[in-house]
Amino acid sequence: MLISGNHFVLAVCILCLVVWCCGQADNTEESAATAPMEKAEQAALYSAIQGFVGDWWNGSDLYPDPCGWTPIQGVSCDINGGLWYITTLSIGPVHDNSLVCATNVEFRPQLFQLKHLKSLSLFSCFISPTRHPITIPGDDWEKLAGNLVSLEFRSNPGLVGQIPPAFGYLKRLQSLVLLENGLTGEIPASIGNLTNLNRLVLAGNRFTGEIPDSFGMLNELLILDLSRNSLYGHLPLALGGLTSLLKLDLSNNRLKGRLFAHIAGLKNLTLLDFRHNKFSGGLSHHVLDMVSLEELMLSCNPLGGAIMSLDWQKMQNLVVLDLTNTGLIGEIPESLSGLKRLRYLGLGNNNLTGNLPPKLASLPDLNALYLNGNNLTGVLQFSHVFYGKMGKRFGAWNNPNLCYPVESMTTTTTNGPYGVKPCQKGHFDRAKFHGQVGG
Ligand SMILES: *[C@@H]1O[C@H](CO)[C@@H](O)[C@H](O)[C@H]1NC(C)=O
Ligand SMILES: *[C@@H]1O[C@H](CO)[C@@H](O)[C@H](O)[C@H]1NC(C)=O
Ligand SMILES: *[C@@H]1O[C@H](CO)[C@@H](O)[C@H](O)[C@H]1NC(C)=O
Ligand SMILES: *[C@@H]1O[C@H](CO)[C@@H](O)[C@H](O)[C@H]1NC(C)=O
Ligand SMILES: *[C@@H]1O[C@H](CO)[C@@H](O)[C@H](O)[C@H]1NC(C)=O
Repeated sequence: MLISGNHFVLAVCILCLVVWCCGQADNTEESAATAPMEKAEQAALYSAIQGFVGDWWNGSDLYPDPCGWTPIQGVSCDINGGLWYITTLSIGPVHDNSLVCATNVEFRPQLFQLKHLKSLSLFSCFISPTRHPITIPGDDWEKLAGNLVSLEFRSNPGLVGQIPPAFGYLKRLQSLVLLENGLTGEIPASIGNLTNLNRLVLAGNRFTGEIPDSFGMLNELLILDLSRNSLYGHLPLALGGLTSLLKLDLSNNRLKGRLFAHIAGLKNLTLLDFRHNKFSGGLSHHVLDMVSLEELMLSCNPLGGAIMSLDWQKMQNLVVLDLTNTGLIGEIPESLSGLKRLRYLGLGNNNLTGNLPPKLASLPDLNALYLNGNNLTGVLQFSHVFYGKMGKRFGAWNNPNLCYPVESMTTTTTNGPYGVKPCQKGHFDRAKFHGQVGG
């Protein structure tokens, strides 16, 4: 930019005037330039943050007006009765300029003076379970009960100990997410008092004990995720009353008992993930009542029983059906080929026998089919187009009495399905002759 001499002098004068004015305002009338905010609220904010990010952080120096012209990343405010109050506090490396926790972190009592807080989130904040383990303070949560709707502690391996029963006071809470921390002990029954919860995620900790019966009071729940803990025992009967549930993930625990009879009423459920537990008692017909299910995942449970006995046609929304390693016996029912939205069908490592229904290949969206590790017999009747489309996502190995007809391969470069042997000439002729083959 080109500035003539005169203009330059003028510009310098204006600059001086601006600096002088601002300086005046700053010195004489500090509160006029800042938003109205109770000094106590402001001091509590600074101290609470300092507890997380370290003593070097001087809030009053760096952010003299946290709800006005010096906003803090992760902090937001609302006006109530003409005064600013803190409503959101999020600490953790989300944005470039986020507040990030120090190694010597602490919950300061001042945190609980922020009574207008609606949302508190601590992400990747308590890092070291060995050098600096931190427990959740036990007592003061009642002070936040009036406004807190969302509480989230995520990816904090150094956050250890139990969930304080006083969380039960946070009656307004709609979302409680304690994901991937180092928390232990039993889940307090008082969590069942949080009847406004839509989302309850306690996954990826080391919780033990049983799922509290009081969870049956959480009538507004849409998402319940208790996966990746060490919970044991039976499912509370009352869980079947949570009819608003959309997603139920209890995978990777040590839960046991019969399934379905009492949870069949979860008619809006779209995801049911019970993988890696000890559920038993077979696949009852009640599973078919959960007509909204899109993902039904039960792999690695000693369920047992037959898969044939169910009329899968009813489950028209199923996209993922994972019954891998569930001790299933019997033949694969042709009704599975009526599930037109199916993309993933896992039936591997069971005790399935008999022939495969060739119609399975006609499922329009199927892109993974695992049948390995069974005792299926006869000739695979799928086309080379099907094998080409599926590639490695067709698994039929470890079925010693299964073979594929070499004649169905049009070119010599097309390989047969992995781990399945070509049929002996006589075997195949017999297959064609009988329409199907027994062994
Ligand atoms: C923060 O800075 C202000 C002035 O900039 C100073 O008066 C105050 O003592 C400092 N506070 C801390 C805790 O260091
Ligand atoms: C939870 O509710 C029960 C009654 O259902 C009550 O006895 C208990 O004090 C409540 N706990 C909390 C922490 O609110
Ligand atoms: C199930 O979903 C339907 C449609 O979204 C909704 O109208 C109904 O209220 C839901 N049922 C429950 C118990 O939430
Ligand atoms: C399959 O059945 C055989 C004999 O009934 C049994 O020994 C074996 O453990 C079963 N395998 C599985 C994976 O259930
Ligand atoms: C597989 O099935 C055949 C009969 O179809 C039976 O003879 C054989 O014992 C079975 N193998 C296993 C491991 O169960």
